[in-house]
Amino acid sequence: MQLINKDLVGLEGVSAEEIAHILDSAKSMKDYLQQGVKKMPQLQNKSIVTLFYENSTRTKMSFDLAGKYLGASMSAIAASSSSIQKGETLLDTGRTLEARGIDIIIMRHPMSGAPEFLGRNISARVINAGDGMHEHPTQALLDMYTMQEKLGRLAGLKVAIIGDILHSRVARSNLHGLKTMGADVTLCGPGTLMPVEIEKTGVKVTYDIREAVKDADVVMGLRLQLERQKSGLLPSLREYNELFGVNSEVLKLAKPHALIMHPGPVNRGVEMDTDIIDHDRSVITEQVTNGVAVRMALLYIMTRKKEDIV
Ligand code: CP
Repeated sequence: MQLINKDLVGLEGVSAEEIAHILDSAKSMKDYLQQGVKKMPQLQNKSIVTLFYENSTRTKMSFDLAGKYLGASMSAIAASSSSIQKGETLLDTGRTLEARGIDIIIMRHPMSGAPEFLGRNISARVINAGDGMHEHPTQALLDMYTMQEKLGRLAGLKVAIIGDILHSRVARSNLHGLKTMGADVTLCGPGTLMPVEIEKTGVKVTYDIREAVKDADVVMGLRLQLERQKSGLLPSLREYNELFGVNSEVLKLAKPHALIMHPGPVNRGVEMDTDIIDHDRSVITEQVTNGVAVRMALLYIMTRKKEDIV
């Protein structure tokens, strides 16, 4: 099976069959990795570039590993040390990469819509590794993979996503993906950090963390995106933690098996108390591990030609 669109710019509009196919393929990739297989030939004639205009630890490294494990030729461009600093436009940078025969550009950018713009204007495939406040589709895919692996399903799960929803591309990708897969999503955060009319996407909204977490199967905290926030959205980090921080009292309201998740990086003691981050039900480090298998699956699927598929 191939993905319908040339690029992966978001999970909005991606079908349940496509998501299920990526998650199934990620399971096979994880099985290989657990057997110690870290050199595979599937992408040995493919060139992949990571083009990051914003910092990253997890996403960039896991795409690097995913490509290398599948045998691709990997290179990296950081905006801070490239000709982007001399004023080169995004489109000219993309065309320069295309002229070198790059097959996939994995891109992070502060502007919402930048990966979609680039993908429309070049023939190389583009994967969005996070664009502004829009989407971070591979983070949501690895989140869904982790939920399915731990809880056996996505349909019917009650997922509470708590924090800075307004600025969170992770929340947006998760709500699209989880709704498509039949989960029941509740968003919770301060009114100043909640997008207007987000309920119209079919999610529940509450401003009370206890209501959000009650009977949840998954409690997902989000990083406060202080770099994207205008001043005046929060009274103080201390007050935010008191009202919206995940702590052991709040966690008692969730189902006994509830998973604790966070995309990272975490502001310890702000979005979550330290004992929650390190709790035995926390799967935050497993999310990072699963990111490699999920990105391997995606790179493999996106580089297959129709004639390769039997
Ligand atoms: N979750 C996430 O996108 O982390 P990085 O910013 O470290 O890539």
